[in-house]
Amino acid sequence: MKLKFAGCQILLAIIVMGTTHAENPSIVLKTRSFALTFQVGDDGRLYQRPIGGGDSAAKLKRDDEFYPQAGDGYVWEPALEAVHADGNTSTKLVYDSSTQTNETADLELTRIHLHDPAYPFEVVLCFRSHQAEDVIEEWTEIRHQESGGVLLKRMASTSLLLTTNVYLTHFFGDWAKEMMNPITEQITPGTKVLDSKLGVRAEQFQNPSFILSLNGKATETDGQVLAGSLAWSGSFQCAFDDNNHGIRALCGINPFDSVYKLKPDETFTTPIMIWTWSDHGLGEMSRKLHAWARDFGMRDGHKTRSVLLNNWEATGFNFDFDRIVSLFDPAKEIGTELFLLDDGWFGNQYPRVNDHAGLGDWQPNRQRFPDGLAPLAAAAVNRGLRFGIWMEPEMVNPNSELFHNHPDWVICQPKRELELQRNQLVLDLTRPAVQEFEWNTIHDILNVPGITYAKWDCNRYLTQPGSSYLAADSQSELWIEYVQALYALMDKTAKTFPDTELMLCSGGGGRADYGALKYFHEFWPSDNTDPTIRVLMQWDYSYFFPPVALASHVTHWGHRPMHFACTVAMSARFGMDLDLTKLSAQDKAVCAGAISAYKQIREVTALGDLYRLEDPHANFRGALNFVSTDRSRAVAFVFQLNDGENAPVRLQGLDATKRYTIHELNPAPGRAAMQKDGQSFTGEELMRDGILPSCSKALEATVIALDP
Ligand code: DGJ
Repeated sequence: MKLKFAGCQILLAIIVMGTTHAENPSIVLKTRSFALTFQVGDDGRLYQRPIGGGDSAAKLKRDDEFYPQAGDGYVWEPALEAVHADGNTSTKLVYDSSTQTNETADLELTRIHLHDPAYPFEVVLCFRSHQAEDVIEEWTEIRHQESGGVLLKRMASTSLLLTTNVYLTHFFGDWAKEMMNPITEQITPGTKVLDSKLGVRAEQFQNPSFILSLNGKATETDGQVLAGSLAWSGSFQCAFDDNNHGIRALCGINPFDSVYKLKPDETFTTPIMIWTWSDHGLGEMSRKLHAWARDFGMRDGHKTRSVLLNNWEATGFNFDFDRIVSLFDPAKEIGTELFLLDDGWFGNQYPRVNDHAGLGDWQPNRQRFPDGLAPLAAAAVNRGLRFGIWMEPEMVNPNSELFHNHPDWVICQPKRELELQRNQLVLDLTRPAVQEFEWNTIHDILNVPGITYAKWDCNRYLTQPGSSYLAADSQSELWIEYVQALYALMDKTAKTFPDTELMLCSGGGGRADYGALKYFHEFWPSDNTDPTIRVLMQWDYSYFFPPVALASHVTHWGHRPMHFACTVAMSARFGMDLDLTKLSAQDKAVCAGAISAYKQIREVTALGDLYRLEDPHANFRGALNFVSTDRSRAVAFVFQLNDGENAPVRLQGLDATKRYTIHELNPAPGRAAMQKDGQSFTGEELMRDGILPSCSKALEATVIALDP
């Protein structure tokens, strides 16, 4: 029915809800133990059967609409908010068609096409289902052919509906405290928002990964759980909107100040949301996500890693050619395989001798390295060490030739005093000249003969988001365009240097997300390397990331016993950041023993399945074990944070019928040997009765190999 009212034509819609005809299409996405069901309603809109909601024939309510749009009847948090070219602030999406294609035997791609009947405006909901891993990657594509730009104000990557009685586990932190404070709370009516507004990184205070447990809190072995992780290295928002009938998880680019003008015929693709399902608790959830990550979420996820020695904690900015070369022989002697030269090797007019100068001037400092980096890399390679280098291509110090030549290249707000963080500014990657400069920088550094590893750092976030390159009415696009340009740069780096291993670092764990990790081999979880803290952080990161992706270096942070520090670091991607020339003979022997032990077990810790056994947040100790994929070998770790009764550690994931010989590796000096060392047991016995570890006091740790 059409009415004329105050010069407007008003279309009165009779809202038909609560019924669906059997012939309306339904679309089911299935993985091994998870299913997601969509149903087209009589009104043509797309609905989702809530996850965990038992009744698949229940009447559909408007609240159950999938990817709900603002402005046309939906009153809760929308997934999509757009302003059409004619100024209309409403969108209505109805179902068009869908396709399901098997990309491989394990992978199915589902694309659901929706459109707005009143506008040439189309949304495609995309899902890639990984059968065996119970992982679904979800994203949205938006395009139109309107007469001008459409303003996208909200464009979520996901809007999954769940039933009520859901617990949310999320991780709040800060610099040096990343991912060590898990918070589990029941979602209650209202909207719970996890977000960041940092622009060039997702994390500092909040990680874009979380866990939803249905029908009560999950344990490592029990409960229905859904892990979510947004693959985006910029400002993000995850909102859990509970309207008392159901809970909607809306995750995507943070709508804060991020209006994006989508031109006709362009496609906007949202970041990917990664969902992992398990009916058997957090442990299985992580193992599935780790399996996915090895194949799709990181580089070379099926390869072990070289033991690394970094000079940062040993020298800081204070070094030259001779000092660095003097570290190579002790590095080789102790068994490390890769040397990483950190910050401080560049800058001439403004030498990088502290963090006040030099960023942006990526020429080797002539006083420190008169012949450049190649002779240094060669000196390492000639001693049988691989050589790696630190870089921070996105940043500039005002004290640099680059800033003096191009003051307009930085992100800042006109008429505001420049706000520095760590004395530096972010280069405006939306500007093509900056893209070219950063690519040339990366290319020239990684092209130095002998360099096969690099650490890509990013030591500040955005606080004054202004671009002198983008037009006045496009300033809010900076947040999105920066990250897209960054990914283009990372992609080009990975493709041009396929054999160069890359570590992702952001003043600690600021870029611990799957958006960037797919171009990298590992990430730096935190500048805090105190092993008592790392036990907690590594536990929490392991919910989402395989330990081989977590760089873990032995340092003097916290002044903990060397044996404890080494054992904690060996349980992830092992490295050291120590002045080996200053270690006591005993500590040096402990380090050498740890490296030799790590080489024996890395096939299992890097490539095997992880079982978290005892949670260090809740106990006087933490314990975990890894099992090789053929279950012939395993490795167990125990980290004792406080004094407590020494009880057996019960292992998981072993083959119950196989026999394993247990052997403590690199035993701590002066401590009694592990009881039953060298004896063999069946997997069933080890899982039922456990192993009594040699550690029994605070700051003792042990690593036990289980071999056929
Ligand atoms: C911050 C990193 O987290 C450190 O490991 C180190 O690389 C410094 N930056 C160097 O400036």
